[in-house]
Amino acid sequence: MSVDYAALLQTIAAEVAELAPDGEVADYIPALARVAPDQFGIAVATVDGRVYRAGAADTPFSIQSISKLFALALALRREGEALWRRVGREPSGTPFNSLVLLERERGIPRNPFVNAGALVVTDVLCQRFLQPERAVLEFVHRLLGRTGVGIDADVARSERRHSDRNAAIAHFMRSFGNLHGDVGAVLDAYCAQCAIAMSCAELAEAALFLAADGCQPGGARILEAPDARRLNALMLTCGAYDAAGDFAFRIGLPTKTGVGGGILAIVPGRMSLCAWSPRLDATGNSTAAAAALERFAAAAGVSIFG
Ligand code: DON
Repeated sequence: MSVDYAALLQTIAAEVAELAPDGEVADYIPALARVAPDQFGIAVATVDGRVYRAGAADTPFSIQSISKLFALALALRREGEALWRRVGREPSGTPFNSLVLLERERGIPRNPFVNAGALVVTDVLCQRFLQPERAVLEFVHRLLGRTGVGIDADVARSERRHSDRNAAIAHFMRSFGNLHGDVGAVLDAYCAQCAIAMSCAELAEAALFLAADGCQPGGARILEAPDARRLNALMLTCGAYDAAGDFAFRIGLPTKTGVGGGILAIVPGRMSLCAWSPRLDATGNSTAAAAALERFAAAAGVSIFG
């Protein structure tokens, strides 16, 4: 099927504007509560180097938990298989910031995308890099092949000031021996990484290695092909937390969401795409971005389930 992606994205942007999606912007991080709620953007980057855009596809927003994907890829490059002794690979069926499974499972997070797992990944980066948040940012620059992406210092400060729950998760894991560094340093790095600001087009381009067996356009190898496949599997099963099953049902693609309203999706072998709109549903995922990706996957026929 030959698809006119440029036209399809314009159609989807117009349809989403008509939908007038409900939901609220994330306000547990005060700096995010100030974001204009009704913005929408979408971008597609194909493995043959084309980028298609509609709406506010070039407007930077807070990538929040989408950063967990880049942090995980970087940690895997440094730590390899040993990482999986400290973090599981199962969906949690709980919200992203839940503590409930940690006591029963002795401080081993279910997966690297719930906050507990992402904090372990950040702990690994803190052991491996003197400035872990800079390491994640420089990794993003490497993926993009250019600099210019930055950390929004206001958002990072705002989240750090309101990070009691993540602090509780980190201390709890430390009590089980699964967080090795200083909790304050891990939270500093984690909040900074979540506060990276990127646009839909930048996110789609940066994640292309996940659609291309671990290689960025131009051939630079970021991950071995089996690790890229495994990250896609984790995105499908855990990337949208307790909405992962519903996302697989509706969209049929590996995705990673963030409370900034972005959702990144991978079409293995073909493309990476990102939709963004700040209003969130009860699971903390963007209502309009999910609707847009659902429409795109159906119209372009790109669900991994055929
Ligand atoms: O840890 C937090 O609460 C945020 N920095 C990230 C949460 C997030 O984006 C969850 N994803 N939908």
